[in-house]
Amino acid sequence: MKVKFTNLYKLVPEKKKINKKINYLIKNSKFVGGENVKNFEKNFSKYIGSNYCVGVGNGTDALEIAVKSLKLKKNSEIIVPNNTWISTAEAVLNNGYRVVFCDINLNDYTICTKSLEKKISKKTSAIIAVHLYGNPADMSKIKKLVRGKKIKIIEDCAQAHGTKIKNKHVGTFGDVGTFSFFPGKNLGAFGDGGAIVTNSKKIFEYCFRSRNHGALKKYDHIFSGRNSRLDTIQSAILDIKLKSYEKKVFKKRNELAKRYFKNLDTIKQIKLFNLIKSNKSCFHQFVIRTDNRNNLKKYLEKKGIDTMIHYPYMLNELEFFKNKKKLKNSYKLGSKILSLPISEEHSFKDIDYISNSIINFFKK
Ligand SMILES: Cc1ncc(COP(=O)(O)O)c(C=O)c1O
Repeated sequence: MKVKFTNLYKLVPEKKKINKKINYLIKNSKFVGGENVKNFEKNFSKYIGSNYCVGVGNGTDALEIAVKSLKLKKNSEIIVPNNTWISTAEAVLNNGYRVVFCDINLNDYTICTKSLEKKISKKTSAIIAVHLYGNPADMSKIKKLVRGKKIKIIEDCAQAHGTKIKNKHVGTFGDVGTFSFFPGKNLGAFGDGGAIVTNSKKIFEYCFRSRNHGALKKYDHIFSGRNSRLDTIQSAILDIKLKSYEKKVFKKRNELAKRYFKNLDTIKQIKLFNLIKSNKSCFHQFVIRTDNRNNLKKYLEKKGIDTMIHYPYMLNELEFFKNKKKLKNSYKLGSKILSLPISEEHSFKDIDYISNSIINFFKK
């Protein structure tokens, strides 16, 4: 039996409807801006429960623009979790701020609030909480830690479409939230795409102009921005996919994750996510941890099962980051974690096959 990690073609729902829409947009030369972009922004902010949404070119730009919109103190520090995609840290550096890496917790791999408490200093101007793998970071604790301090919160929700804390969507707890619609994400476009969500009119107005050279309309530039628009075709595709997202994607991934938990719960040699019941993960990744990771990965490969590693390095291990302080939980974590296949196109049969293969590996 073969189990692919993802099959992007299979993940495209309603292919006829999407093809028809793309043909219509091409025939009518609708490529940039217009009502399709506006509609998606409106529907996405409704889905998230935010007052505003700004579509942008990708999740990296969403982070960079979001950080910029906060107009933080020059040379100040922004705290970033050590286990995340590089964009989270790039958004800090590319805006001229200093990155301070913070440890993660080993229950859900999001920011460790004990480590965060120690990292907050007079120089801290913001924290980027990453809802990694689709697991929600502890937003109420993070908000408590910054209470009464001039510290902003950015939520990196690139992997967290549909993730909720007590029924409230992530991205709405801090000052501003960012999303990626990279094709492999739970809600993916047919190319790059991203969005910024916020309840603040001021932040919205900055981001809205910033993605379009500082202008609301042609030649109305009031500051130096950039070109980072979510294009018309991507917006239209995302709008179609959003309609069935909860039913087709979110629900299915939760069912498959439940099956993994049930199947793998008793294997002592691996650690599974330990999640809070009242929260909802969108299970962008299903990550397990084991000291025998490399051999397990090879064994699964022989069984025809694709796996991945998110991520094989921690950011403070990269050569060009000067901050080399050892962080206990994330230290060499990249050699222990393994992402198992999980997507709406996988079946219970796939999950059982993967689980049984893991069980057999540890029986040997
Ligand atoms: C946590 C996280 N932040 C930011 C990004 C950047 O998104 P994009 O690839 O759309 O620029 C990603 C994408 O992989 C991500 O996983």
